[in-house]
Amino acid sequence: MAEELIRMQNISKSYGRVQALDGVTLRVFEKEIVGLLGDNGAGKSTLIKVLSGAVPASGGDIYVRGEKVAIRNTTDAIANGIETIYQDSALVTELSIARNLFLGRELIKGPRFLDRLDQKAMNEVAGELLRRVGITKNIPPSTPIGLLSGGERQAVAIARAMYFDSELIILDEPTNNLGVAETQGVLRFARAARDSGHSCIFIAHNIHHVFQVVDRIVVMRHGKIVADDINPKNSSVAEVEMVITGMSDEDMRAAIG
Ligand SMILES: Nc1ncnc2c1ncn2[C@@H]1O[C@H](COP(=O)(O)OP(=O)(O)O)[C@@H](O)[C@H]1O
Ligand SMILES: [Mg+2]
Repeated sequence: MAEELIRMQNISKSYGRVQALDGVTLRVFEKEIVGLLGDNGAGKSTLIKVLSGAVPASGGDIYVRGEKVAIRNTTDAIANGIETIYQDSALVTELSIARNLFLGRELIKGPRFLDRLDQKAMNEVAGELLRRVGITKNIPPSTPIGLLSGGERQAVAIARAMYFDSELIILDEPTNNLGVAETQGVLRFARAARDSGHSCIFIAHNIHHVFQVVDRIVVMRHGKIVADDINPKNSSVAEVEMVITGMSDEDMRAAIG
């Protein structure tokens, strides 16, 4: 039995009168990619924002390896090994690839108080990381992020999560607005992350992308989890779509007419 990495227990969140999350319990195990699916507005982003410290929950608890933790902001999340990659990753477009990789954790040379960045060391590590995440074009690590394609930016964000050994990497709609090759790149990274011992929560609009990479599918509807143990290997896309919409076969036929 794999070890439990994360447990979000009975999480609730209201935005005024909108109950975005209603008593949600989500567990993520070690070395597992969980696909989180649900219609627009189901509460997926809110759930992962609670886990990544971007929004406070109205109720519930979060456990990392069985220990209760307080995640009040992104720094708390990162300290607990949780790194989130949003659609528009939190990268600084005017800074270089290398600087973005080390954002907030820059390498320093000489005495600490002089605060001199070790640009050379950062460039070296960055070059190696880019190769590892499959950016084989020879892009110098000093290139500003603004000059990269969407897929290359995602690669940089993922490289950052991998290098700093985040235990859980959350990808919220990482393939939106990406081309086919770039999308395949992101899917490959998710698999590589799992294979090197990380866990992932993967949210994507395209259910086929989810089927290609995840080990387990969790479905949310109206702020609740309605299925948490769908094995993509023995379910069809159509079956999962029915769980997402809450429609039975019969409802579907009636709706289509
Ligand atoms: N900042 C916010 N203020 C008010 N309502 C919000 C906010 N963020 C999300 N919501 C509402 O919470 C619900 C869940 O949204 P969200 O978590 O973004 O869903 P999903 O990611 O599954 O599409 C929706 O009804 C949405 O309108
Ligand atoms: Mg969302």
